Amino acid sequence: MDPIIAATHADPYRYYAKLRSAGGLTFDPELKLWVASSARAVCAVLAHTDCRVRPAQEPVPKAIARGTAGKVFSQLMRMNDGEHQRCPRSAFEPALGLIDLDDVGAQVSARLITADADGLYNAMFRGPVCVVAALLGFTPAQARTISELTADFAACLSPLSNELQLAASDVAAQKLHGQFTELLAEPDVHSALLAGIMQRFEGDADTLIANLIGLCSQTFEACAGLIGNALLALRRQPELGAAPTGALLAEVQRFDPSVQNTRRFVAAACDIDGVRVEAGAVILVLLAAANRDPALNEDPDQFIWDRPNRRSFSFGSGRHQCPGQTLAMSIASATVREILNHGIEVDRLSWHYRPSLNGRIPLFSFVGG
Ligand code: HEM
Repeated sequence: MDPIIAATHADPYRYYAKLRSAGGLTFDPELKLWVASSARAVCAVLAHTDCRVRPAQEPVPKAIARGTAGKVFSQLMRMNDGEHQRCPRSAFEPALGLIDLDDVGAQVSARLITADADGLYNAMFRGPVCVVAALLGFTPAQARTISELTADFAACLSPLSNELQLAASDVAAQKLHGQFTELLAEPDVHSALLAGIMQRFEGDADTLIANLIGLCSQTFEACAGLIGNALLALRRQPELGAAPTGALLAEVQRFDPSVQNTRRFVAAACDIDGVRVEAGAVILVLLAAANRDPALNEDPDQFIWDRPNRRSFSFGSGRHQCPGQTLAMSIASATVREILNHGIEVDRLSWHYRPSLNGRIPLFSFVGG
């Protein structure tokens, strides 16, 4: 096991405990990176101004730097620090906070879910982005296109993608750019969410469009993983079916997070949680390990759906903390409810995790057909 393989391992949590007990912030000589595993260290790294989301010498991954996908990547708040993060964030965060969550439930239940493997796949990997696209003002048919394109675009965010996937990601970025340009050009169809973002946004149109695409790509895998991991929790402990879905999902996001880790790149030599780290160092931030730190949550290895004072790093912390958390929880809860209402039997599911360096996202098939 290593801290990257852990993300898609059947049970990484004992290994995470071992890492925490060796010290919250330790150097892995094989992977040549620092690993933050305790709640204290994770919090300190994510709060530190010298810990940046991209390495200074490679703001955009080389493999995508020359195409449209790279251009979009370079403008995302998620991939920037300083003004290029703060400016879009100051418009998007408040607008995301004003979304009517009843509307989200209605959008999810309006979608057709079939009780087979395809239906489950679509509910996890297509539905959530369709909901976000619809909230941004796209028609249901357009939202389906946006969701397909987002799946292709998201390939540029993974170092595991091959040439073919990167080329498709580039084409998808161009098409998404076109779709959003057309949407912005029609003021009479602007949704409350889009109008709220535009009202507050002060940058150029390209940055606005990149970050609208970013809402879709941030939704895509993370929501699929949360929905899938909730189904796995129900499969492991069927008695959890009696818990209210929202409460169940609140514990799933802590207990078995879809985003297991994130990274930071050290811009200047500094002390983090009492450890000296040099400029140029890379830190793997194990959000999922910190969630199980007994200093953060009592009985952290117990799944307690009505856990009092739950604390979690699954949506990050500090400057880049997820501004879509409430929306994500609401989409995922409504989707799990719909999946169960459609009679999908979780005890008939088999699964493997999608290959990934940081996402814990089950891909399901049905045992016996
Ligand atoms: C279960 C679903 C989700 C999970 C687990 C999740 C998790 C995260 C995490 C961990 C980060 C911080 C990454 C870092 O600091 O390195 C983040 C950032 C972000 N998330 Fe989410 N997210 C989810 C869904 C969403 C949704 C639905 C949206 C919006 C529609 C969204 C929008 C964003 C944006 C824009 C950022 C970048 C913020 C910034 O850099 O300032 N996320 N998310």
